[in-house]
Amino acid sequence: MGSRREAPRLCPACGVPVWRGSWQAALLAASILSSCFLLNQAQSGSSTEISVTWKPLEPIQGQNVTLTPGEGLENIVFCNWYRATTTDLEKRIFVYYLPPSPLGQINGAAYTGRETGSPDCSLHIRNLTSADTGNYTVTKEGAAIMIGHANIVVSESVTNIAIWGPSTTFENNITVLYCNSSGSNVSYYWLKGDQSLEVGEHISLNNNNQTLTLNTTRRNDSGDYTCYGNNSFSSGNTTHSLTVFYGPDVPVISPNTQYYGTGSNLTLSCEADSLPPAQYTWNETKAGNTFQLSNLSLDDSGNYTCKAYNNETDSAQSASLEIWVLEILSKPILTPDKNRTVENETVILQCKTSSNPKVNVSWFKDGKPVPDTAELSDMNRTLTLLNITKDDAGDYTCVASNPVSSESSNPANIVVAYGPYDVHLNQPGTLTVNLGSNLDLLCIADSFPLHFQWFFNNTDQKVANDTFSVPLTAWEDQGNYTCQAYNSDTNRAGSASVIVKLTENTPGTNNGLSGGAIAGIVIGCVAGVVLISGLVYFLCAKTSLGRTEQHVSNGNIPSAPGHNQGVTDTKPRSGEEDIQYSTLAFKANNPPQPAPGPTHPLEGNIIYSEIRKK
Ligand SMILES: *[C@@H]1O[C@H](CO)[C@@H](O)[C@H](O)[C@H]1NC(C)=O
Ligand SMILES: *[C@@H]1O[C@H](CO)[C@@H](O)[C@H](O)[C@H]1NC(C)=O
Ligand SMILES: *[C@@H]1O[C@H](CO)[C@@H](O)[C@H](O)[C@H]1NC(C)=O
Ligand SMILES: *[C@@H]1O[C@H](CO)[C@@H](O)[C@H](O)[C@H]1NC(C)=O
Ligand SMILES: *[C@@H]1O[C@H](CO)[C@@H](O)[C@H](O)[C@H]1NC(C)=O
Ligand SMILES: *[C@@H]1O[C@H](CO)[C@@H](O)[C@H](O)[C@H]1NC(C)=O
Ligand SMILES: *[C@@H]1O[C@H](CO)[C@@H](O)[C@H](O)[C@H]1NC(C)=O
Ligand SMILES: *[C@@H]1O[C@H](CO)[C@@H](O)[C@H](O)[C@H]1NC(C)=O
Ligand SMILES: *[C@@H]1O[C@H](CO)[C@@H](O)[C@H](O)[C@H]1NC(C)=O
Ligand SMILES: *[C@@H]1O[C@H](CO)[C@@H](O)[C@H](O)[C@H]1NC(C)=O
Repeated sequence: MGSRREAPRLCPACGVPVWRGSWQAALLAASILSSCFLLNQAQSGSSTEISVTWKPLEPIQGQNVTLTPGEGLENIVFCNWYRATTTDLEKRIFVYYLPPSPLGQINGAAYTGRETGSPDCSLHIRNLTSADTGNYTVTKEGAAIMIGHANIVVSESVTNIAIWGPSTTFENNITVLYCNSSGSNVSYYWLKGDQSLEVGEHISLNNNNQTLTLNTTRRNDSGDYTCYGNNSFSSGNTTHSLTVFYGPDVPVISPNTQYYGTGSNLTLSCEADSLPPAQYTWNETKAGNTFQLSNLSLDDSGNYTCKAYNNETDSAQSASLEIWVLEILSKPILTPDKNRTVENETVILQCKTSSNPKVNVSWFKDGKPVPDTAELSDMNRTLTLLNITKDDAGDYTCVASNPVSSESSNPANIVVAYGPYDVHLNQPGTLTVNLGSNLDLLCIADSFPLHFQWFFNNTDQKVANDTFSVPLTAWEDQGNYTCQAYNSDTNRAGSASVIVKLTENTPGTNNGLSGGAIAGIVIGCVAGVVLISGLVYFLCAKTSLGRTEQHVSNGNIPSAPGHNQGVTDTKPRSGEEDIQYSTLAFKANNPPQPAPGPTHPLEGNIIYSEIRKK
């Protein structure tokens, strides 16, 4: 500011060519002369400071601004505008001659083509640029000199926004992105993809949000980062793509199958998470992430190693899979040392299959696994059945298996002869039955094999069934009935007996008493009545007739003692003998029998009752 005041000048428009030889030039000259005259008068005094106002107050790029100096225009002849704090001629925009001077605006060195003066001494700048920011000085000159200053700030819109930083980085590194733009009062924020950033331990923003720091870069930090800048009247953004290299992780070999059958084909593939994708090598020789072998043989067993390498991180990871190639088993052959055995003996079953220890042999009986207690030897290939019992009988199979195959043997049927045990009859003990009923016996024994023989009173009945049926028609049919169970393999026998006692069949039986008892009571009563009538008759006859009588009843109970209807008398054979026989015959045609079943018509059956009298 201080150097504004120069040596008194003759003319403010000294830089302007004045003498051009036209009437305008003449006018200009006159005007200048008059001005110079006035100025010279004025410049003898000191200049006064005036204010400058401008509109708009905060002009922005592309807008127009008008700067107007204060105070009146009285005695003012012309005004100068400078782009500087001084009235340096080199920085003058123009000089403006106020009316009535016809000269108007005469541009200076700092004129850009956008500046226009006015009769009120204002400066109008069109289409502002950032270069218009700065200090302006105006002088109003006439009778006196006035000087004013202004500092114009042209706000810039957000332009040239850009991100500086690496486009690739590594996992766990620190990664810094920096965003900047030209523009006034720009505020910044960031998005990753279309997500806002979560500032925290992992990500920090500093320096007016212009610096984005990934404190430990993660593999999922790869992506597009967009920096947005804006101020009150403009905005801008730019996107920066960041790739985070990582890995390889420990590779995974698939399928994770360890066992293969001979002749099968093998395709292993290896996968490791890595960026850029890993390069794979098998057994340090073959490249590619898959490994193929066809028609596998036992020799192909071994460890297959896959190495994954990342050329950006320059690191590698390996994994191994141990592969076993195993034979496909054929059907094992099961041979017992005997098929038929007697209990308490020993049976040895041999399962012939591969002798490879990887081949498992398991045993089944009737489709169910043999119990753990089974005697197994020779790597489970021998099953010994010690002290065999009937429960050991059945169909045996052995199953040979390895992880790639499983085969079941032929079945071996083991027959166990045993017994007889627990020989018994369906009607044990002593049996009292009616004469004339049927005897049906069933013999039961636990034995294999099993034969039956039936005896009556020790006499072989030549019956080989388990059932024995005989009608008990005669008193001689009572006695000892025996079933003998015989095992031809164990050469053992067992027997069971029943003693059959016969009783007289009687009418009027009911459910309250056993058939035999009722029959007995009835027979007893009848016999008693008959006996008494017989006795009375006999006594009468002996005294009156003196002869022996034989009575035959047709089964009807005599209604009263002494009644001899239906009784036939026989002549005594010998008068000396005191033995009397009374024969009674009952008709079976009586009230209903208590038990259904085989009923024997008792009609005509004769029941003997012996009566002896001295
Ligand atoms: C710029 O920001 C400052 C401080 O926040 C404020 O005083 C000024 O007015 C702003 N200017 C513009 C052009 O926004
Ligand atoms: C990125 O990975 C981290 C763990 O490394 C996890 O916590 C976070 O949720 C992941 N972010 C996304 C967007 O997947
Ligand atoms: C193994 O691959 C061969 C061809 O390479 C094919 O002929 C054969 O059938 C395959 N074997 C099996 C078990 O898939
Ligand atoms: C790979 O290596 C294992 C032992 O490390 C070996 O058994 C196998 O045969 C090898 N495979 C090939 C294809 O060389
Ligand atoms: C495979 O590798 C394992 C462990 O690395 C080892 O115990 C085994 O003996 C190897 N097998 C072969 C056939 O080399
Ligand atoms: C890694 O390999 C890829 C091709 O597989 C190549 O384009 C890249 O330049 C390599 N990088 C380095 C660091 O060698
Ligand atoms: C088998 O042994 C049991 C018990 O020792 C015995 O009761 C049974 O009679 C024996 N069987 C044969 C056929 O020897
Ligand atoms: C053999 O069988 C047993 C029991 O079933 C099993 O635990 C074992 O893993 C099997 N071994 C093989 C080699 O298959
Ligand atoms: C059988 O024995 C019983 C009594 O021991 C006898 O009453 C019966 O008459 C005998 N039967 C034969 C046919 O021997
Ligand atoms: C019946 O006969 C059998 C065989 O002769 C004999 O063992 C059994 O003791 C006899 N039963 C009776 C009760 O006499």
